[in-house]
Amino acid sequence: MLLAALSRSGLIALALGAVALAALTAATRLWRRQARERDRVAARLDLLFTQFPDLLVTADTAGHFVDVNPVWQRVFGFTVDELREKPFLDFVHPDDRDATTAMYAEQQRGGAAHAFVNRYRCKDGTYRWLEWNATPVSAGGLIYAMARDITDRHVVEEQVRAFTAELNARKEIAESQLQQAQKMEALGQFAGGIAHDFNNILTIVMGTADLLRARAADADPETDARIRQLTEAASQGRTLIGRLMSFGRREAVSPRPLDLGAAVREAVETLRFLLPANIEARVTIPDRLPPARVDPAALTQILMNLATNARDAMPTGGRLDVTVRETTEARGAGAVQPVRGRFLCVSVRDNGTGMDERTRRRAFEPLFTTKPAGQGTGLGLPMVLGLIQQHDGTVSIESAPAVGTLIELYFRSAAEPAGRDDEPAPARAPSGRTPEHCTLLVADDNPAVRTVLTQTLERFGYRVVAVSDGAEALAQLDLRGDAVDLVISDSGMPNLSGPQLYRALRAAGRNVRFLSTSGSPDEDILAGRDPRWRMLPKPWTVEELVTAVREILAT
Ligand SMILES: Nc1ncnc2c1ncn2[C@@H]1O[C@H](COP(=O)(O)OP(=O)(O)OP(=O)(O)O)[C@@H](O)[C@H]1O
Ligand SMILES: [Mg+2]
Repeated sequence: MLLAALSRSGLIALALGAVALAALTAATRLWRRQARERDRVAARLDLLFTQFPDLLVTADTAGHFVDVNPVWQRVFGFTVDELREKPFLDFVHPDDRDATTAMYAEQQRGGAAHAFVNRYRCKDGTYRWLEWNATPVSAGGLIYAMARDITDRHVVEEQVRAFTAELNARKEIAESQLQQAQKMEALGQFAGGIAHDFNNILTIVMGTADLLRARAADADPETDARIRQLTEAASQGRTLIGRLMSFGRREAVSPRPLDLGAAVREAVETLRFLLPANIEARVTIPDRLPPARVDPAALTQILMNLATNARDAMPTGGRLDVTVRETTEARGAGAVQPVRGRFLCVSVRDNGTGMDERTRRRAFEPLFTTKPAGQGTGLGLPMVLGLIQQHDGTVSIESAPAVGTLIELYFRSAAEPAGRDDEPAPARAPSGRTPEHCTLLVADDNPAVRTVLTQTLERFGYRVVAVSDGAEALAQLDLRGDAVDLVISDSGMPNLSGPQLYRALRAAGRNVRFLSTSGSPDEDILAGRDPRWRMLPKPWTVEELVTAVREILAT
């Protein structure tokens, strides 16, 4: 018997061998199963790597790609070998290289990348935006990364950003324009109020000075000269009030088709007195410009402000160049885009001190001035802006410190010839009546103005009845019937204002002539224009008063 023949130790060895064999067989089976599992995982990973829709990559610590999935080739146009050939930084947009290097260094220190964005170059030279998520450097010295092509999203985001920025810019402009308009409105009301009172004072000064001069002229030349000085000072005050009022847009601007070149030339000629000898003013006007819609008085006022500013900016002399050109684009301060249309552009350029960016941006702001107290009110450019806006035009400023300033005024081109409204009314033949046959009713609540008016008109031979408000005027008119030839009335009066008196007379069918000496022109009255109504804003000169009275009596 074999078993019996085996020794006890042999038996033990045999049993152990059998156990070992069984263990080995089991281990081999396990190993094979694990190998098959590994193969399956590898195959799945391989499939994932090749089919994954985003960009997958492994890179080494030397900065080269090790593996890239096929999407790379589709997106960038490079072959796998071309991508592996160079350090990956070579494909990164130059502007993104520093950030990419820093990110890579962070990964080497054990950090991961989350939503890191940079641009990669395509074979055709264009760039695509990528958003990265990547592991830190692994024990095997590799970085595993996934990138998503976000170019389309980025383009949309950029468009949204640009659109939002433009919207914000427009909103800011609209807000600042609204603020300026409110400031102008408030200042306009304020200016109108001051103008009214101030005009009364100037009327008294000018009228009294004229009355005095009439008495003193022959007897005393020195007194006459002094009175002339007084009149001149008062008429400067009158110019100032005129500026204040047009600043508040209380003066009607009536643009009409005009040879702009000729008007500019004429305006600059009349302004030359403003400029000292060391400033050379040159006007260059090309031939055959179409007419523009312009109010010549407003144009002179605009150019006067610009010339004054240029003069102040050239204390040691310089050049002022004024030109006119035709254009199809009007640029405007604060406008986001130029306005298209047919325009004539008047440009006024000086080579003075110029403005820094902050001053340039604020230049049109009411009351903004960089001039010492008493030398600038900060109303010049806002007034220019107000006047040009009333022309439906625009104005732009370019300026650089120590180089100079260019102001461009854009007026609408006038395609059609001047209409009937634009032609001056024909002069009326004066009637044969002499002053002593005319009775004038003067209504003004200011006693001094009333006295000056009465005395002045009496000096020219008129019979005058003076009253202190509209109600009294109405009572006198009822009393005297048609004996009153002309009512000379202030606008703002207690009981019945000038416009109310005018309307009451018209409503009662009284066709009496009416001369309004309103200190601040009233739109309401302007609207009711008729040949027997006229306005003579205060402060008037005696000559203006008498001319107006004669002309209206001739109707
Ligand atoms: N041609 C220019 N060169 C340099 N700076 C200018 C020029 N025009 C205007 N400015 C600047 O713009 C500011 C505002 O001008 P604006 O005409 O409105 O007021 P002002 O000249 O200061 O006072 P005002 O005209 O009421 O007497 C000026 O104080 C000045 O700083
Ligand atoms: Mg000025």
